[in-house]
Amino acid sequence: MLRAPAVQALLIQAVAFPLTLGVVYLSARAGLTVSYLFVALVQGVLALGLTLWRRLAVWWRAIGFGFPLALLGASLLAIPPSVFFVIFLFLLLLYWSTYRTQVPYYPSGRRVWNAVADSLPSGRALRVIDVGSGLGGFVLELQRQRPESRFEGIELAPLPWAYSHLRARLGGSRARFIRGDYETLDFGEYDAVFAYLSPAVMTNLWIKAAREMKPGSTLFSYEFVIASQPPSRIVTPIKDGPALYLWDF
Ligand SMILES: C[S@@+](CC[C@H](N)C(=O)[O-])C[C@H]1O[C@@H](n2cnc3c(N)ncnc32)[C@H](O)[C@@H]1O
Repeated sequence: MLRAPAVQALLIQAVAFPLTLGVVYLSARAGLTVSYLFVALVQGVLALGLTLWRRLAVWWRAIGFGFPLALLGASLLAIPPSVFFVIFLFLLLLYWSTYRTQVPYYPSGRRVWNAVADSLPSGRALRVIDVGSGLGGFVLELQRQRPESRFEGIELAPLPWAYSHLRARLGGSRARFIRGDYETLDFGEYDAVFAYLSPAVMTNLWIKAAREMKPGSTLFSYEFVIASQPPSRIVTPIKDGPALYLWDF
């Protein structure tokens, strides 16, 4: 877990803090006026240096530098702590393990769902899963289009899972939503696996799919390729948009 970039970014701020105190102490002794802005800038510069040293991805540099300044700006707004707590809780329930998985929530969209629906074999009942099902739109829509088949979603984050579960219950859909990690599933139980994840997990996703998926089944990945594995088919659901990649087993 310590290797996760978000955890490293947090540790970097923690390591930079005593160094900042040292710089502030020496600056005050040298007769400089020490303002909160000065402290935030020192902390930001030190965090930036440590981020470069740890060779984190380029966007972490901006985050490392900007975080203390953002903290200072937010404290000046004098927002009640309870508001911060509610926002924190909401983001926690929405993103949950993103700091570890490096797969945040963002939706694919109806044109992608339709492209998957058009690429699924017809004439027989299928069992299909969306790994990382978010708010459940893909699963519910495909279940609506293919009532004879069984569509499922698995989602780590509690809020999107609860929302999709409720949507299925209240809407009378037979789609099923599981709260959990797709790593624990057996992909061999499915005729198709749909993934809209992130480049960080694609190699492991392929290893799992290659080990478990049965002959005649298909792995779909929207937007993200598997570096070592050319897809069997490529579909473009949105003109000039990202592609939908298919691997037939
Ligand atoms: C990019 S969103 C895609 C949402 C949805 N599939 C769609 O197409 O709109 C990825 C989702 O995967 C979830 N996720 C990431 N890693 C996961 C894992 N190991 N097991 C289950 N869900 C995961 C995230 O919480 C996030 O909601």
